[in-house]
Amino acid sequence: MMTTPEPAGAHEAAREIEELRSLVRHHEHRYHVLDDPEIGDSEYDALYRRLVNLEADFPELVTPDSPTQRVGGAVAEGFAVVEHREPMLSLSNAFDGEELRAWYARVLRLLEVEEVALVCEPKIDGLAISLVYRDGALEVGATRGDGLRGEDITANLRTVREIPLRVQGEDVPPAFEVRGEVYLSQDEFERLNAARAEAGEPLYMNPRNTAAGSLRQLDPKVTSERRLQLFVYQIGWIEGAAPHTSQWEALEWLNRVGFRTNPVADQFEGIQDAVASIDRPEESIDRAVAFCEEWVRRRGELAYAIDGVVVKVDDVVQQRQLGVVGREPRWATAYKFPAEQAVTRLRDIQVSVGRTGALTPFAVLEPVVVGGARVSVATLHNAEQVEAKGLLIGDDVIVQRAGEVIPEVVAPVLPAREGREDELRPFEAPTQCPACTAAVETDGPASRCPNLRCPPRVARTVEHFASRGAMDIEGFGEKLAARLTELGFIEGVADIYGLAERREELLALDGIGEKTLDNLFAQIEASKQRPLRRLLVALSIRHVGGETARDIAVHFGEMAQLRAAAVEQIEAIDGVGPIVAQALHEYLEDSANGAEIDRLAAAGVRMDDDTSARGGPLEGDIVVVTGALDRWSRNEVEALIKELGGRVSGAVGKQTSYLLAGAGGGAKRARAEALETEILGEDEFLERLRERGWDGEE
Ligand code: IVH
Repeated sequence: MMTTPEPAGAHEAAREIEELRSLVRHHEHRYHVLDDPEIGDSEYDALYRRLVNLEADFPELVTPDSPTQRVGGAVAEGFAVVEHREPMLSLSNAFDGEELRAWYARVLRLLEVEEVALVCEPKIDGLAISLVYRDGALEVGATRGDGLRGEDITANLRTVREIPLRVQGEDVPPAFEVRGEVYLSQDEFERLNAARAEAGEPLYMNPRNTAAGSLRQLDPKVTSERRLQLFVYQIGWIEGAAPHTSQWEALEWLNRVGFRTNPVADQFEGIQDAVASIDRPEESIDRAVAFCEEWVRRRGELAYAIDGVVVKVDDVVQQRQLGVVGREPRWATAYKFPAEQAVTRLRDIQVSVGRTGALTPFAVLEPVVVGGARVSVATLHNAEQVEAKGLLIGDDVIVQRAGEVIPEVVAPVLPAREGREDELRPFEAPTQCPACTAAVETDGPASRCPNLRCPPRVARTVEHFASRGAMDIEGFGEKLAARLTELGFIEGVADIYGLAERREELLALDGIGEKTLDNLFAQIEASKQRPLRRLLVALSIRHVGGETARDIAVHFGEMAQLRAAAVEQIEAIDGVGPIVAQALHEYLEDSANGAEIDRLAAAGVRMDDDTSARGGPLEGDIVVVTGALDRWSRNEVEALIKELGGRVSGAVGKQTSYLLAGAGGGAKRARAEALETEILGEDEFLERLRERGWDGEE
């Protein structure tokens, strides 16, 4: 029996993968071509399996030329082989704008033209498939396989709802092939993993691998439960007349006859053709580069993973003239985004203290570049997650970063453990607060530090107190809050209002000038006038957010009334449940909190709410509008929101209260979904206004 050394990390794995590939290729050649094997089947299988397992653990090291990526290997159990009538090609890569321009320059040189129209499409990180239609009906669906031969997965593909079993239209050729990319949305991936975590099964690594596994299920029922999706991007071979003369026309036709094409795709014509862009005479390549750069930034807005942009010469005749070198067409290239996953060492798991005292474990990582940014910490949510992911301190881990989202640890690289078991240790949830040593309170998977004076907790509380939806003290951010807390200037939020008296001491600090300080003091002074609803938000009372705070402030009108209220009276307010009422009551009963509120009042902070129309029904709300509404034009609805005390913002962010969404509006909706921001339809929005006492005209 052959033995292979076990890898200790990503580098070792890369080396071993290369070695395994050349061994597997050698033995396959001896077996299939020379008919003269040197080793037995089980030895070959062991090599092949080891390669498959390593590649599964290091998906970023998988290349199209790996023997595992070829049909006919050991993975072809149960599926018939389909020979592609025309090979399914790969793409050359461009890693920045300059390389894309170099590709384009070569296209112009070969065609001997000045300019060429281009089509840009997101490069979906899924699996390429081929669909053959005859007499309008789906005949065969196949994987790409090695590009020449794939697997017949028709039964599975028939379960994908976005694949038409029959196409519609008059200009449908007698037979043709369509190519596209099957993928799993981010949401669906998370749904599947949540179910697996619940069942105690190992978690999937990423949407792409999960989609691949789902497509190759022998039981189509399993595939059908996975909610796979498809974007088509190309017409392959055609019997009869072609319905298109350009890639753009192909996409339009595909869409017309019933396929899903990617709405983000765009066509960039030459200046000569594009009358509309005459006052902005950019060449097609300039606009293509801008498209690529835009989607590097915006990829997090999409509901699915993309790993680049495919840039294609639009005209079919020009495509044919340019032809293919090796397995890559000259007429298309892939602008590749920086990798979103990377492998690095998990140095430690530490615990941070949030403003409500919540203790959250986070990963301390050996710094690594992911998605174009340097990452050295990543969130782990809670101790249960650490356990569900099976992480050990000292593991090599896969780190993921999608768009603007906080980096996260996906999974440990299990083979990398072998031989270094004594360097690994499990994470133990602390029983004492790591910052102040107070005994930790636990509540299900969550744990908290109960000490109100715990320094990081105070710093976060102060930061929140000064933040936008709260007392809105501009210039009082995370860094300043942490620094002033650390230096002892601030022990509770009321100390903010005593800072002006310590002007000289503050001026002695590094990097704080007179002007900055005067601005800050002016902001602090202005914040004293915020209404009670804002103060209630600012105090970091558990479960009390903007809306609840408003309801409570409107009901009681004054802090004194609220402090005198029994828990039942608080609970009686519309929209306030028993948990919120209890938390608020407990907070106000606590003598330390009471003292802090008294200090705020003594400093001149307002303790009552707006009684006039000034505090309109939307006060404190930051609303983003998208899509087309029935009742109002965009201008009208924005004016209405402002009139009712709300604010209108152009982009969905963490501060957004909710998204008001009409028909269409894909990107903002996708971002709202990604950030779990509330999405209101027009009717729901109106209902909310009515609930809050608005009786205006629609
Ligand atoms: S066109 C000859 N368009 O990228 C042109 N490919 O490395 C071949 N892909 O195997 C492909 N989105 O799996 C094209 N909009 C798109 C694509 C796309 C994803 C994948 C496809 C292909 C690989 C090429």
